[in-house]
Amino acid sequence: MDVWLRSYGGSNLLMLMLIIFGFFNSVAYASFNVTTIRFNEGYSPLFGDGNLVRSPDGKSVRLLLDRFTGSGFISSKMYKHGFFSARIKLPSDYTAGIVVAFYTSNGDVFEKSHDELDFEFLGNIEGKPWRFQTNLYGNGSTNRGREERYRLWFDPTKEFHQYGILWTAHNVIFYIDEVPIREVVRNEAMGGDYPTKPMSLYATIWDASNWATSGGKYKVNYKYAPFVSELKDLVLDGCASDPIQEVLEASDCTEHNAHLNVQDFVTVTPERRAAMRNFRQHFMYYSYCYDILRYPIPPPECVIIPSEQRRFKDTGRLKFGGSHRRRSKRRGRNPSVSTDNQSSM
Ligand SMILES: *[C@@H]1O[C@H](CO)[C@@H](O)[C@H](O)[C@H]1NC(C)=O
Ligand SMILES: *[C@@H]1O[C@H](CO)[C@@H](O)[C@H](O)[C@H]1NC(C)=O
Repeated sequence: MDVWLRSYGGSNLLMLMLIIFGFFNSVAYASFNVTTIRFNEGYSPLFGDGNLVRSPDGKSVRLLLDRFTGSGFISSKMYKHGFFSARIKLPSDYTAGIVVAFYTSNGDVFEKSHDELDFEFLGNIEGKPWRFQTNLYGNGSTNRGREERYRLWFDPTKEFHQYGILWTAHNVIFYIDEVPIREVVRNEAMGGDYPTKPMSLYATIWDASNWATSGGKYKVNYKYAPFVSELKDLVLDGCASDPIQEVLEASDCTEHNAHLNVQDFVTVTPERRAAMRNFRQHFMYYSYCYDILRYPIPPPECVIIPSEQRRFKDTGRLKFGGSHRRRSKRRGRNPSVSTDNQSSM
């Protein structure tokens, strides 16, 4: 309670939060039936080895950022379609400038035509809550960002929550616990922009002082280092595929697809759809679909919901609420950022 008051202020808002939270809770009771693995069963260190600390039983891993380096890991295999998730706890206190990313990508293999699905958590100054964004790229569509930005309905530094990415031939769903917060339904007009090639799963923590918090206004303050993010209950439920082979002949994922299609998280029940609407109505503060200055014609997968749209200005930002600018280009160990006009973020 105390945290919510500090984070969001105002008792009316608190009441609203309680109601919404209760709603999410009732949806969240049925937990996904997933198989978790140990770090060594599916992952390898990617960078900042000394800052990647595994628990003795190998079931959880800490990613640290200090003044010398961040850290990250990558799945040992690449997957075509699947469900990828982890229960994550984010660093607490002063975390401005920090990004914790949980994402799939094949940028190492396909430099110019890569695919990617992102969760990116953006740290904040003390007393202000973490925010996060999701994004999607296909076939190197980095000049067509599909960002959405949101607040959370809980404090992600206090306890673990499950963050999941479902990727099938038909849709992509970003989950937080059992709430689908975003669904992208593939359609023909998206063409190559929909991810199709095998991807690896990544988790990283890094210094994004130049854009993460209020457009780079607040930098990482290493007085508070090390910044620690912890991940556990790792799920890599995908069809293991060789990306090079894939170019010649599509992998046979028949068996895995059959398995995936009967999983609980594949079905967006009416209750879950209502929870998704509710989340987006209250916690989304930017969507490329409503950014008319950037995309005068919304990209083809956008589903324009009038009650949502009314909340946004033509910049895709909330009519009421703070400004969240950012500018950036980065490559390599970190998720991509679209390289077009970012001034409206
Ligand atoms: C992927 O992008 C390349 C280069 O932009 C283009 O030539 C190709 O047709 C695209 N593939 C698909 C499936 O859209
Ligand atoms: C970027 O977008 C802003 C409006 O959001 C517009 O005023 C500006 O001219 C654009 N710049 C470029 C280079 O497209």
